[in-house]
Amino acid sequence: MEKREIEELKQLRKEKERMKSLLDFGHEVSSRILNLDELLKLIMGETRNILDAERCTVFLRDFDTDTLWSKIADGLGGGEIRIPLEKGIAGAVARSGELINIKDAYSDERFNTATDKKTGYVTKTILSCPMKNKMGESIGVFQVLNKKGGLFDDDDEKILLLLARQAADAVENAFLYDEQRKMFESFIDTLSDTLDKRDYLTAGHSRRVTFFSIKTGEAMKFFPHEIELLKYSSWMHDMGKIGVREHILAKAGKLTDEEFEQIKSHAVFTREILEKIYFKREFRQIPEIASSHHENLDGSGYPRGIKGMVIPFFSRIIAVCDVFDALTSKRHYREPMPILGVLNLLKKDTDTKFDPVCVDAFFKINLLDIVLGINHEKVENFVIVSEDEELLKKYNLEDFYRVLSCAEYTFEQSRIIEAFAKYYGK
Ligand SMILES: [Fe+2]
Repeated sequence: MEKREIEELKQLRKEKERMKSLLDFGHEVSSRILNLDELLKLIMGETRNILDAERCTVFLRDFDTDTLWSKIADGLGGGEIRIPLEKGIAGAVARSGELINIKDAYSDERFNTATDKKTGYVTKTILSCPMKNKMGESIGVFQVLNKKGGLFDDDDEKILLLLARQAADAVENAFLYDEQRKMFESFIDTLSDTLDKRDYLTAGHSRRVTFFSIKTGEAMKFFPHEIELLKYSSWMHDMGKIGVREHILAKAGKLTDEEFEQIKSHAVFTREILEKIYFKREFRQIPEIASSHHENLDGSGYPRGIKGMVIPFFSRIIAVCDVFDALTSKRHYREPMPILGVLNLLKKDTDTKFDPVCVDAFFKINLLDIVLGINHEKVENFVIVSEDEELLKKYNLEDFYRVLSCAEYTFEQSRIIEAFAKYYGK
């Protein structure tokens, strides 16, 4: 075979590879529409490979602030970059809606050298094109830097335009989904803030229970969509307390039977309130899960006194986390219970009140997360020494329970107890 033929064959193979990558790109992008971060990461990685470039960044346009932002700056170690629309090549592309192919970045006056100066990277060639939605608006910009072994050519331009078109729909969907999620979460946050404002001592309870529930779900290797359902259900589990009179919620002494009945009605109110909210299909079980967090395995719980497997599994998880947080927090009528007492109680009530599977998973949470969860609402003034952090990360609650149950402690065991005690007791 002649040298020219070998070259042609090589070129043909390369084209075939590129074609396959382009087809894969379309498929991958359209199947990951729900997670914006993941989607952007995928688009940037694939575009860089297909165009044989060193870097690729996808900027999204923020119409409110007239800026372009990129959540994950590929190759720059993560984080968020934000640039005004009137600056740089990406800004010029977003404004004009036209592709720009630059052979020498430093001789182009529109090029903003700030990022290079900050990172030590040297930009040579730039291919940048707009990402347009169906209405023809530029919703973002693709920026590819430094073509390996030369300049970006006509084919690269066509391919980038094609990639940008394919990505636009998926990005817009993911963006919309992200906005919806933020709106939904801010709504739950407001509701749980309303509860917190009524009683400062139980403030943060819902968020801490949510934190522990997520960690328990992670210990059980739940899928992300299951973690989401668990997260929202636990965040809203006590929503019904809005319907309980304040003097009962905040009573310092022991509750009378009648007052206790009033408190118990919060579980029914939780269901009634949540049933009024429209939840998408994946979240339809939230009212049922959230309102069943006081049901016990043996049927001695409330409001319905349902038993065993009839109690939703996620409610059984929330039940463990709820009791753990209640006992480790200060209340109007008592101080936080010593940690060994809390763990003993959880163990004692396993099989009668609590599901052993959920208790086991809860005890798999590492001590660092337990400490972070307990202090969840004090993030701003909460500091944990890195030495303690390392130590607490190594042991889970089950290990700790075993340590605490020992008659005598080894040096390492004393260190764990000491480190934990520093961050326990509010
Ligand atoms: Fe409750």
